[in-house]
Amino acid sequence: MKNPDLLHEFQTIFDNTNTPRIFFAPGRINLIGEHTDYNGGHVFPASISFGTYALAQTRDDQKLRFYSLNFPDSGIIECDLNNLDYDDAHNWANFPKGMIKFIRESGFEITRGMDILFYGNIPNGAGLSSSASIEMVTGVVLEGLFDLVIDRIKMIQIGQKVENDYIGVNSGIMDQFAVGKGKSDHAILLNSQTLDYQYAPIKLDNHVIIIINTNKQRTLAGSKYNERRTQCEQALADLQTELSIHSFGDLTNEEFEQHKHLINNEVNQKRAKHAVYENQRTIEAAKKLELGDLDAFGELMNESHKSLQVDYEVTGLELDTIVSAAWEQPGVIGARMTGAGFGGCAIAIVEKDQIDNFKNNLDNIYTTKIGYPPSFYVATIGDGAKEITEECAK
Ligand code: GLA
Repeated sequence: MKNPDLLHEFQTIFDNTNTPRIFFAPGRINLIGEHTDYNGGHVFPASISFGTYALAQTRDDQKLRFYSLNFPDSGIIECDLNNLDYDDAHNWANFPKGMIKFIRESGFEITRGMDILFYGNIPNGAGLSSSASIEMVTGVVLEGLFDLVIDRIKMIQIGQKVENDYIGVNSGIMDQFAVGKGKSDHAILLNSQTLDYQYAPIKLDNHVIIIINTNKQRTLAGSKYNERRTQCEQALADLQTELSIHSFGDLTNEEFEQHKHLINNEVNQKRAKHAVYENQRTIEAAKKLELGDLDAFGELMNESHKSLQVDYEVTGLELDTIVSAAWEQPGVIGARMTGAGFGGCAIAIVEKDQIDNFKNNLDNIYTTKIGYPPSFYVATIGDGAKEITEECAK
């Protein structure tokens, strides 16, 4: 897939003949460890080659002008560096605005306005972290244009703060971390409680990771996401009446089983079970990948999906249909939903020789049941957010 001529678009849209600098932040997939990041557990994401490009230049005044080639109907969205409050009318541009606001509030000097053109090739609403990608690309734009050195973990935390305090989604730190710290051909095993992390080479022998987009938009994702988070907080508070733990990440499966009776609501108990077991599965899965035991890794992916379906209840008909169809195909090591759920994408590890067969069969099964086709992309694991050359933006 080729990108539009971004330089030409920048110069035409902003009527600006200068040459801007170019930045890129990826999207992400999560191999395993879902809904664990705000529960003090581990996640295992990787940044992908789809992402958000930003062409940016400083101005001599205090004006900020944003344009997205993905939302041409919104036109140029303009505001002033001295008024960065959230504004519904500014739509998608609230993400970069929030980043600029919070980076300034963290003590970094941003003294001039900017023209920034955004272009994302992450499928929209697919749960591949397009919003974290916009946040982190804005972070590296500011670093580049204003000669700042922003500690990367700090930038990641600011991205999360934008989601939580500016946009209003109570998300964890996984997406910004994967997008900000991604490394080509590696996944990141992150302990979301301590922020300790390590890179793990993705060794798949003769297999690839296929991203399957259900093409069901993640409607309700925000409100249901916040609801899950509240349920987990309630369950944790129940456990804390007798256990001195900080989060579900502090519990083994056995300890959970011994104390689950303390959680006095059946639904909350299921949510907590997922959070505890999923964390343990993630630690285990990273070990299996390191040992090259792909079959065991795939089995843990499958268990993860079942737990998200039955205990956490964030899958839904579309994701369940595509994942169970994937499980039945020859050459499939494992498959699961990825990201927040409620629609969006699944991933599957598939033998290279079986890719065409896999896609055809899934297309048939899914289209017959759901009424519209899924989309497929072979995942390439690329680097985290950074400045790039014009050549790389083509
Ligand atoms: C979204 C959030 C992440 C994480 C996942 C679920 O992507 O932004 O913080 O909670 O859902 O694992």
